[in-house]
Amino acid sequence: MPDGPLTETRLREALRTRLFRFEPRIGSTNDLARQWAQEGAPPGAVVIAEEQTQGRGRSGRTWTAPAGSGLLMSVILRPNVDPLLLPRLTAAAALAAYDGIEAAAAGQAVTLKWPNDVKLSGRKVAGILTEATWQGDNLAFCIVGIGINVSVDFEGTELIQKAISIESVTGQTVDRALLAGQILLRIDFWKGILEQSPADVIDAWRQRLDTLGQRVTAHAADREISGEAVDVDDDGALLLRTDNGLIHRVVAGEVTLSDDRV
Ligand code: BTN
Repeated sequence: MPDGPLTETRLREALRTRLFRFEPRIGSTNDLARQWAQEGAPPGAVVIAEEQTQGRGRSGRTWTAPAGSGLLMSVILRPNVDPLLLPRLTAAAALAAYDGIEAAAAGQAVTLKWPNDVKLSGRKVAGILTEATWQGDNLAFCIVGIGINVSVDFEGTELIQKAISIESVTGQTVDRALLAGQILLRIDFWKGILEQSPADVIDAWRQRLDTLGQRVTAHAADREISGEAVDVDDDGALLLRTDNGLIHRVVAGEVTLSDDRV
């Protein structure tokens, strides 16, 4: 049984005192969150949509979602961190999404893929897009956009080997408003850890990354490097050991497993 459409009332119950905006249909929740932040919305405020028609993913991909199929939300953060540490903020958000999805996953394996995909039973169930807005050299605010496949049916699509929905794995209905509330609380939690002890965020993230120990190809903006993913450093960069023994630092981009490209 589906959990029914998201409504203001349902979200108010689940999000309690948190400031939020709900849109039944939107281009991109990140866009509305940015506009709202520019108008002065406080940190922690969130935009949630039922349907997203022009959502953005990383590396120029799109993230659209029909009504009822996913959780689409963008959180406004005004982190007190050096802008160079932004990858750690995304790692903190990935940990929060991991925690919420794990609670809904009925014991199925949840992992993270570098840099910040969440995987369920080995396939991508959620993605995160962090977008920063600057005032000169200073970070004005960040929008952390999270998209989760809750009941998308990938059967018969080209994504079937790569993507998955929570409900197709668990066979249980996900209450999307509750899931949003849980993830937002975990964002508060991990952001607190980040501000006090950034290394703990990286350690927790490292422990959940299934990329480590795998042979991967990193697709960066201008080149590809293949090797074994041996570790991540304190800044969140992936360390790849190529066949000649050299360690390469990959700061951004995508990785695919070298054998099956998932
Ligand atoms: C990825 O490529 O894995 C990141 C996907 C991020 C999608 C989410 S959905 C909510 C928010 N609004 C957007 O336009 N994108 C993010």
